[in-house]
Parts: sequence; C-alpha cells; structure tokens
Amino acid sequence: MTKFPENFFWGGATAANQYEGGYNEGGRGLAATDVTTGATKDSPRRRTYILPDGTTGATSKVGERIPEQARSAILDGYYYPNHTGTDFYHHYQEDIALFAEMGFKMFRMSIAWPRIYPHGNDPEPNPEGIAFYHKVFDELRKYKIEPLVTISHYDDPLTLEEELGGWENRRTIEYYERYCQTLFKEYQDDVQYWLTFNEINSATMISSFIPDYPKELDRAGYRVLHNKFVASAKVTQYAHTHYPKLKIGCMIAGLFSYPLTCDPKDVLANQQKMQNYFYYAGDVMVRGTYPAFAKKMWRQLGLDEAFFQQDTDILKAGRVDFFSYSYYSTSCHTTHEGAKKDGGGNLSLGYYNEYIPYSEWGWGMDPDGLRISLNEIYDRYQVPIMVVENGLGAVDKLENGQVHDPYRIDYMRAHVQAMAQAIDDGVDLIAYTPWGCIDLVSASTGEMRKRYGMIYVDLNDQGQGTLDRFRKDSFYWYKKCIESNGEDLD
Ligand code: BG6
Repeated sequence: MTKFPENFFWGGATAANQYEGGYNEGGRGLAATDVTTGATKDSPRRRTYILPDGTTGATSKVGERIPEQARSAILDGYYYPNHTGTDFYHHYQEDIALFAEMGFKMFRMSIAWPRIYPHGNDPEPNPEGIAFYHKVFDELRKYKIEPLVTISHYDDPLTLEEELGGWENRRTIEYYERYCQTLFKEYQDDVQYWLTFNEINSATMISSFIPDYPKELDRAGYRVLHNKFVASAKVTQYAHTHYPKLKIGCMIAGLFSYPLTCDPKDVLANQQKMQNYFYYAGDVMVRGTYPAFAKKMWRQLGLDEAFFQQDTDILKAGRVDFFSYSYYSTSCHTTHEGAKKDGGGNLSLGYYNEYIPYSEWGWGMDPDGLRISLNEIYDRYQVPIMVVENGLGAVDKLENGQVHDPYRIDYMRAHVQAMAQAIDDGVDLIAYTPWGCIDLVSASTGEMRKRYGMIYVDLNDQGQGTLDRFRKDSFYWYKKCIESNGEDLD
C-alpha cells in the first residue's frame, strides 16, 4: 500500500454555524442560520420572519424567500438548533484536547463573521469575538495542531443580507475584504492556511434541486457567485502581498457525477453538469479566468457577459495556492426517460447508481469516486489538494458511554484507501479533514440525529441533552490510522 507523505495533515473539520453555538454571547450578531429552524430529511428547514404589522410566519420550502416587507426573526414556538450547535464556544478546551488525543495534525474550523463584525458593516471589529478565536488558536498551538480556517461558512451577517441585499450588492465585497484584512492582521501568526468561502459553488446549486426555480433567482445566483469570486481573489492577492507566508485555498463542493449509460448523449449531459457544477468555480479560482464553456452558459441563462468580464485582472491576480473540496458521494446524469432518481447527495440531485450503496439519508457511498475525483482535479490544476470534508451521516446509539459505529469505520477506511491509491497515482494530496469530527448540527436538515462525528455529543433534536462528549469506536480507529500514518486501517 502506498504511504501517505510525511507531514500529511490528518485532522477533522467543523463550521462555526453548526458547532460553535453561543449565538447571543460575546457581542455576536445574527446570521441566517440563527433564524432557520430544525427539520428532517423529509421536511424542509424554515426561515422565520415578522411582517411590519406584527404578523409572523415561516417559509415552507427550500429556496423560498421571505416576503418582501418581512424581516427575519427568532420566534417563540420554533426550535433553532444552530443557536447552540454542539457548544464549542464553551467546550473548546475539552474538544481540542480530544482532537489532540486522536492525533490531529490539522483542525478545520470557521470563524463566524458575525462574531467579528456583528452586522458586517460595523466601523470596528468586536474585541470579544477577536479574543475568543485567539484563545482557540492558543489552545491548538499547545497541541501543535495546525488550524485550517474557513473565513465564510454559511453564516454571513444577517444585516448584510437584509439591509444590503447580501452578495447581490457589490458593497458586500468591501465588507468581506475588511473582515479578511482584520483576520489576517490579528491571526497571521496563528493561522497559515485559509479557505475563503465554503463550497463557493453552492451559490448556483439551488435550481438543481427545485425544478420550477425562478429563472431570475437562478441568474442572481451566478452574479452572487461572481461577486464571491472577486472577493476571494481580492483577499487572496492582499494576503500574498502583505502576508506572504499565508496560504489561501478555494473550497468547492465536490459534485462529481457519472453518465448513467455509455450513450454519448449521457456522456455529454454529464460533462455539461460537471462543467457547470464544479469546474466553473475551480477554473476561476485556480486558473484565474473563466473557462471557455462559460460564455455559452451565460448566453443560455440570459446573463450579460459584460458583467462577468468586468473583473478579469482581479481574478487573474488572486489565484489560490491550493485546492480543497468536500467529497461525500457521487450521482449520475442521463438523457433517458424513466431512470430512477437518487435521494440527492450533498447539494446534488441525479439518478440512482446501481453499483454503489446509499446511506440512510440517500447519499451514495463511492470511495472509488474519491480516487477518480482526486485524479481529475490534479490533472487539471496541478496544485496541492486537501479533502476538507468527507464522512457518513448516520444514527448512532449511545449505550453505557459507548458508541459502536462499524459503518462509519468502514466508510472511512474505504475512503482512506482511495486516497492512498490516488497518491500512488501521483496526486499531490496534503490533507484529510473528515467532516463533523465531533457531532454537530446537520446543515441540510438541522438534525442532530444525522451524526458524522468520531466524538458523540449528548444532544437530541429537541435541544435536550447534557452536551457531554463520548469517544465512539471510530475515535479509536482514527487514532490508530493517524498514528500509523494511514497504514493500520483494521
Ligand atoms: C457540506 C457543508 O455541504 O456538507 C457542511 O459544507 C455540511 O456545512 C456537510 O454539514 C454535510 O451536510 P449535512 O447536510 O449532512 O450536514
């Protein structure tokens, strides 16, 4: 079996909105996730709001916007799981000690923008927020764990979204730049590796789940994505100029897919999906320029090419240093009538693949797909790669302080083997940070019962529990995997 390189970054990944909690402590402002309820895989998360006349309400389907006159609001009678997450805010010392016990070399976390700039456009950063992350980084340093920090992971300040129109307004780029400049200045000695946006390509994905998604909202998604590319490029260039030792990466949702059949029409359909859903973002962020196929896409969507070509120099000057992506599952695409739809993996919806098993949440499990994707990405971009999310969301049972999770170990073992094979193929893979290394709130459903962690957190979907932490069987398995640098996978 191929050896993982020495200094390989074994670790785990989290995000503030799903993990940190303390939503109303330390001067933190609100994010959209704070006004979004819990749900299940069969019922959508809902955004709650209040109208000027005092009536209240909640959205009823994914992608639905709140009424024009309404303001998002936290309402009585609803449960908001992200308010607590799994309470890293009050448990960071205990949790980091557990990560160190597993042998982590890297810990992926995000900084909550509303903890640093509570409204996004405040004149000064919030000192309590700044101090909190200093304490976290000090704790990581104690155990020689390298932080990998996502600057924006699904928790933009709500004020920016509601008062400025969020990323559709280019002033948001300036507020983001200021936020990043604050972070680089404050934490330049603590954090070397940064990711500008989590799953940046998710900005244009909603239309793929909702068949009648309004065309204008779809078009807006592409403009939002462009503004985020510009923001990312600007801060990447800024970091390169002012803090040359910092490394900035992209983070793209790994929406990999196959043609369902070898019908060339299916192959073409799949190629177009891959271009649109994945390479569109990768090409801009790594190559610094829109790919050739973009022009036709804009034309077909009724978008004005000039809008996308106005920042050519900025995109070119702000190319990232490394590539990172999330990888959970794959899907298939076809032009054939009557094919069976799959349950939808991470941000994707396609057709059922008879060659792979599916999780309880309908996500296809495909370790070979990880190897394939690593090869594809490396062939195309030739920059170091990090797999910064991967894992199995499953229901775990805590009994007598123990959790037996052989299904998670099987999933992880197969994916670690696939990474070893990709390294053997020649891929420059430098990090693996499986998702939700400690249980946290699911992004898509807001559930706690969909657990990814190797550390169990006692909290249920009604917000009840002690928040105590327990080592699962996978904790000991991963510890052994790290200790042996990926060789002992039994
Ligand atoms: C990725 C996100 O899309 O997938 C995470 O970056 C998310 O925030 C993860 O939690 C798993 O998805 P889910 O919906 O199972 O939590």
